Amino acid sequence: MSSLRGRRVIVTGASSGIGAAVAQQLIDAGAEVTALDRNEPTVAVARYIPVDLADPASIDSAVAQLSGSYDALLNVAGVPGTLPGDVVFAVNFLGMRALTEAVVPLLPRGGAVVIVSSTAGNGWPARIAALTELMETTSFEEGAAWFASHPQEGNAYNFSKEAATVYTQGQGIALLERGIRINAVLPGPVETPILGDFEGSMGKDLLDGVRSIVGRHATAQDIAGPVIFLASDESRWVNGHALAVDGGLTGGVLAGRLQLTPPN
Ligand code: NAI
Repeated sequence: MSSLRGRRVIVTGASSGIGAAVAQQLIDAGAEVTALDRNEPTVAVARYIPVDLADPASIDSAVAQLSGSYDALLNVAGVPGTLPGDVVFAVNFLGMRALTEAVVPLLPRGGAVVIVSSTAGNGWPARIAALTELMETTSFEEGAAWFASHPQEGNAYNFSKEAATVYTQGQGIALLERGIRINAVLPGPVETPILGDFEGSMGKDLLDGVRSIVGRHATAQDIAGPVIFLASDESRWVNGHALAVDGGLTGGVLAGRLQLTPPN
């Protein structure tokens, strides 16, 4: 996208899968990419800063290494529900939120934040009371303590993505006064290295069922385009939005044409 030429963009999770595809497409569009990841990226980014999103001290240290102003933060990093629940929740929600809140002051008016959540978080309306309480926590540590004392039914992955989606929707309004937009992309299953873990935690039958309905799983490139669109000026009036990028599955469920047993 022409509007991304020369833009300075931070991408988490740029070392694999969707994040690597996002970083490559940004570089191809002439943007300057800073990758924050626990693993070194293979894509030729301008700068790599190591970070462990499960560790607030590591997030602080990564943010301290950022320099100058950035145009967008793209939160792509994430881990599957096969890991311990507290780690999944820390990486997919608490660390992502802590990084976002530390980077927002570095974004100018017109800046954008994108969060890669998941259709696995589509069950958020049923848990909105608990999620609203969680949103009131103001730090990584407070959020971790809340999670430890409020055990949630089902897989921590789904809850972490419900939290990411609800956070995005609420922050759209909250960041308006700074002139910064925030949006989420909600992929269905994507052919990346963590798909096998998802088959383990969500059930292979469910994922195979989804594939048979929409014809195939997404590629990382299918998801990267919408992520980059939400970071670009072309989406300047899209804010606080959770965009399903799943071949039509979410729409079919909402319209009552499909019935899927939610993963847990
Ligand atoms: P991936 O495993 O290929 O990439 C994940 C990236 O996150 C890697 O670069 C990894 O090093 C980084 N990462 C993991 N833990 C980290 C930590 N503690 N600190 C810093 N970086 C860390 O997976 P994929 O598929 O590219 O996932 C990207 C995002 O897309 C995740 O948030 C995932 O939940 C989401 N997603 C993936 C779907 C899929 O089917 N692959 C479906 C829906 C959402």
